[in-house]
Amino acid sequence: MKIISCVAAICLALSVNAAPTNTTTELPSFSLHSNHEFKFNATRGVLSARTKYSRFIEGSTSFSVGKVPLTDYLYDIMYYGNVTVGTPPQLMRLVFDTGSSDLWTVSTSCDSCGSKQNKFDPTLSNTYKTTEKSWEISYGDGSTASGLLGYDTVRLGDLAIKEQGIELAEFESPSFMYKPIDGLLGLGFSSLNTLKNIATPVDNLISQKIISKPIFSTYYGKEASGGGGEIIFGDYNPKHIDGPLTTIPVNNTQGFWGVNVKNVKVGKTSVVTAPFDAIIDTGTTLLLFTDEVAHSIAAAYNAIDRRDGTFIIDCDTTNLKPLHLTLGKRQFTIPVESLIFYNEPERCTAGFGYGGLPFAILGDTFIKNHYIIFNQEIPNVKIARSK
Ligand SMILES: *[C@@H]1O[C@H](CO)[C@@H](O)[C@H](O)[C@H]1NC(C)=O
Ligand SMILES: *[C@@H]1O[C@H](CO)[C@@H](O)[C@H](O)[C@H]1NC(C)=O
Ligand SMILES: *[C@@H]1O[C@H](CO)[C@@H](O)[C@H](O)[C@H]1NC(C)=O
Ligand SMILES: *[C@@H]1O[C@H](CO)[C@@H](O)[C@H](O)[C@H]1NC(C)=O
Repeated sequence: MKIISCVAAICLALSVNAAPTNTTTELPSFSLHSNHEFKFNATRGVLSARTKYSRFIEGSTSFSVGKVPLTDYLYDIMYYGNVTVGTPPQLMRLVFDTGSSDLWTVSTSCDSCGSKQNKFDPTLSNTYKTTEKSWEISYGDGSTASGLLGYDTVRLGDLAIKEQGIELAEFESPSFMYKPIDGLLGLGFSSLNTLKNIATPVDNLISQKIISKPIFSTYYGKEASGGGGEIIFGDYNPKHIDGPLTTIPVNNTQGFWGVNVKNVKVGKTSVVTAPFDAIIDTGTTLLLFTDEVAHSIAAAYNAIDRRDGTFIIDCDTTNLKPLHLTLGKRQFTIPVESLIFYNEPERCTAGFGYGGLPFAILGDTFIKNHYIIFNQEIPNVKIARSK
């Protein structure tokens, strides 16, 4: 497991109807014979009207957006979801990663890949387009993958992206082989892509007018309360939003979802008063700070540095106070249960750590407590407590 990786995993999954992208739909043809079997079904009538006009319905999630359910793996170590590639569709389990921008999946030309991984077979897809271009990616935890670039249809729930650039892995480092995933789907900005001029899935959802709002939204569950999660492309789900949304500007100069953290408090005590940069990264398990910030926070919890980026923290949550991060004008809280990532008897691993990086990473420890709407066009994020 990679607790500290900058990349790791995410998930995705989706479902629900594709947005009606083509409003000039053909009229159904009907016969002039009366049909005595026909009964008007009001529910279906409402559903079809809603589907037709869904782009006018604020916050509508069940009718015209791509919803991908997520699997929460082990104790919230990573989240992944089902995506299909090719025609007919081949199922791939991908981590949805806001901290990277490549979409790659293991392929049948990968001899070193894990035997339990789903391997995409381009010869079975009649929409696959091959290229000679090679790619290689390395993540913050030292893991790597490489292979050849192709293009094919990618489905996120009912949303079908045509000619999506897909990096087929012919090699992956051992750390990927035993994970229950077949690759990653990057949700960062395209400037971060390891290949030039490759549109990310979200770029294509927008440019192919598959979604009408340039957003995607994350709800990541907690194993302690049933696990799961969902990503919605083109909309958000009010059912998982608890309280007001706060808009935070995003600095994407480096291709990340960069935000500024103004200060950090433990309970009512200010622990860090100087603002610092952070990225929102669904592919990182923990909440990682710069070494200095992490040690200030650890001191407030009497946490012990394991010297591997993690801390040992008091297992008794009644001794802990919540951790508050101020972003924009609001304080966002990591409740005490999430401050314990993993509970070994008498030796609990903290939900925060340090990564030796010049910025902080708001990983799943943060994300599983908040609903986040990512707007790629502005760019900004809207954050609220999740439920
Ligand atoms: C919309 O549907 C019409 C009729 O089926 C088709 O000719 C046209 O290409 C479609 N447009 C888009 C953007 O899919
Ligand atoms: C009407 O349509 C809805 C949605 O398709 C379906 O769930 C429901 O069972 C139908 N009702 C009747 C009475 O057929
Ligand atoms: C992914 O697809 C598999 C196979 O169809 C299914 O068993 C699983 O429940 C799906 N996972 C999610 C999170 O939808
Ligand atoms: C955005 O981030 C870049 C590099 O991380 C930094 O140089 C720049 O000053 C930031 N811009 C703003 C407006 O904060």
